[in-house]
Amino acid sequence: MKAILVDEKKAMHWGDADKPTAGADEVLIRVHATAINRADLLQRRGNYPPPPGASPILGLECAGEIAAIGKGVSRWKEGDRVCALMAGGGYAEYAVAPAGSVTAIPEGLSFAEAASLPEVYATAWLNLFMEAGLAPGEKVILHAGASGVGTAAIQLCRSFGNPCFVTAGSDDKIARCVELGASGGSNRHTGSFYDKAAEFAGTTGIGVILDPVGGAYLADNLRLLGLGGRLVLIGLMGGNKTDIDLAQLMMKRARIIGSTLRARPVAEKAAVMSQLEEKVWPRIVSGDIKPIVDSTFPIVQAEQAHDLVASDNTVGKVVMLVQK
Ligand SMILES: NC(=O)c1ccc[n+]([C@@H]2O[C@H](COP(=O)([O-])OP(=O)(O)OC[C@H]3O[C@@H](n4cnc5c(N)ncnc54)[C@H](OP(=O)(O)O)[C@@H]3O)[C@@H](O)[C@H]2O)c1
Repeated sequence: MKAILVDEKKAMHWGDADKPTAGADEVLIRVHATAINRADLLQRRGNYPPPPGASPILGLECAGEIAAIGKGVSRWKEGDRVCALMAGGGYAEYAVAPAGSVTAIPEGLSFAEAASLPEVYATAWLNLFMEAGLAPGEKVILHAGASGVGTAAIQLCRSFGNPCFVTAGSDDKIARCVELGASGGSNRHTGSFYDKAAEFAGTTGIGVILDPVGGAYLADNLRLLGLGGRLVLIGLMGGNKTDIDLAQLMMKRARIIGSTLRARPVAEKAAVMSQLEEKVWPRIVSGDIKPIVDSTFPIVQAEQAHDLVASDNTVGKVVMLVQK
């Protein structure tokens, strides 16, 4: 089969790779579309190796048709239209996924739209609702609000009744986030988000903060949390070292939760995907929540697609179509 291969100069080529085979509890997917995640950019540079046992090929998600099933799989059959969360292998003509990490494509969606869903909805759902236990009405801050994860999280917050405030890199991006349901936002290039976010937090403070930035934002994040607030750290785009005021943490009975999705056990990822299929996909079918695809590229143009993501000029997801 063909797949995107990374050479020693970190350049990407559409070249020959071994076609994978499905293990007992896995499925083989004929990939129609895959999508880019920030983690792919790090992995390509050698800074985010795949977990043990995962495909070395880039790609954490895909949409396509079931091409074969392992002998322990009963739910799927050849030809089913699915999307899947994977620990690797999505940038290819064929990819293997654990059967529990696969869902049916929400009715009415194209393969390109479906490929934009698994990683960002799994991340947003896992961290807002399962890790942080977001309760109805609690206020939320979403950093990098226009990112793939951010645009998914904004829509989840709006749909499930949680006011949210975002940070993003331009006024245009904030306007897009507001269109998707955010109450307001702060442009990270024009100073600290603290004052505007504090106005949004009001007297109750923030219930949950979803933060892929880390060090640079931690002190202000802690100041904004309300009593019992939860800060879920999902990335370190702003550095991994900082000072924190432990008194803030203690007096507010606040919690800082570190979370990664990719290296979790298959059963934990299956629990997330099953909740998405039950609680979120119906809202996509009804049109309440929409896949946000910034742009699509043929997968042979993976270099250009990565450059676009790295430019920080995207809103939502960049999808790559696998040629047949
Ligand atoms: N822990 C997990 O399990 C998990 C899973 C998935 C994703 N993530 C993390 O979540 C984040 C979003 O992922 P994604 O794939 O959705 O990203 P994405 O769509 O590529 O968007 C990332 C955005 O982050 C903003 N950004 C870049 N550098 C920044 C910096 N130094 N400080 C603040 N903001 C910065 C930029 O938007 P603006 O210019 O508009 O700010 C950029 O467009 C990434 O950090 C990723 O690693 C974590």
